[in-house]
Amino acid sequence: MTPEIQVLPAPAAVAAAAAQRFAEAARASTARRGRFHVALAGGTTPRQAYADIAARTDIDWSKCEIYWGDERCVPPGDAASNYRAARAALLDAVAIPPHSVHRMRGEAADAEAAAHDYAALLASRLGTPPVLDLVLLGLGDDGHTASLFPQSPALGVTRLFVATAVSPQRQRRLTLTFPAINAAREVLFLVTGAGKRAALERALAPSGDVLETPARGVQPRSGRVVWLVDAAAWGAPPPTA
Ligand code: 6PG
Repeated sequence: MTPEIQVLPAPAAVAAAAAQRFAEAARASTARRGRFHVALAGGTTPRQAYADIAARTDIDWSKCEIYWGDERCVPPGDAASNYRAARAALLDAVAIPPHSVHRMRGEAADAEAAAHDYAALLASRLGTPPVLDLVLLGLGDDGHTASLFPQSPALGVTRLFVATAVSPQRQRRLTLTFPAINAAREVLFLVTGAGKRAALERALAPSGDVLETPARGVQPRSGRVVWLVDAAAWGAPPPTA
């Protein structure tokens, strides 16, 4: 499916648009299937979006199930933890039942076992392949997404839905694999800043190498892909309406 690209003037507008799409996806999923299963992104870009989502009054948090697209292999209270960041920016501000928050166990000594356990959790709640209603993703300036880094063995994983990975800075990670991401009903990329311009151009180019730009591997079988990008990352002002 051809990706939808929305160019917005600034990061605040990207955050607001992401919050709007999050609420729309929650409403549609809940109306059709009674629940909304969403995987949150790590990194810094989504934080304002999480604050905007937390401020909305049109999301029924009792119907939401929260997952992560990836996690650093650190304890949940560590400053690097994506779980910790999402708790601070979003989850501690909304009435999400604790049993509906499904974090990856980054603290596990055995990361492979933690990946296996998370895949089992996804299968038990979402089936095989696990069909998430929405996956939020960021884009690294090297073209990675989630913890799917250039030249990583995790890029070639086809039979598992969660894998371990190692960042270029040698940090152990847990990550959804392409089969899990590409089973989603909707994938929403949030990309801001001039530093992402080259990676965004490679990710959206008509052709390219997934090994070099892993975000190119996000090609949901039947789901939609939406890119919310600001003018700085796009490299030009937003098209006039
Ligand atoms: C992570 C994210 C990662 C992130 C990109 C962009 O755990 O860091 O999953 O994929 O989305 O690296 O990060 P920024 O939003 O901080 O630029």
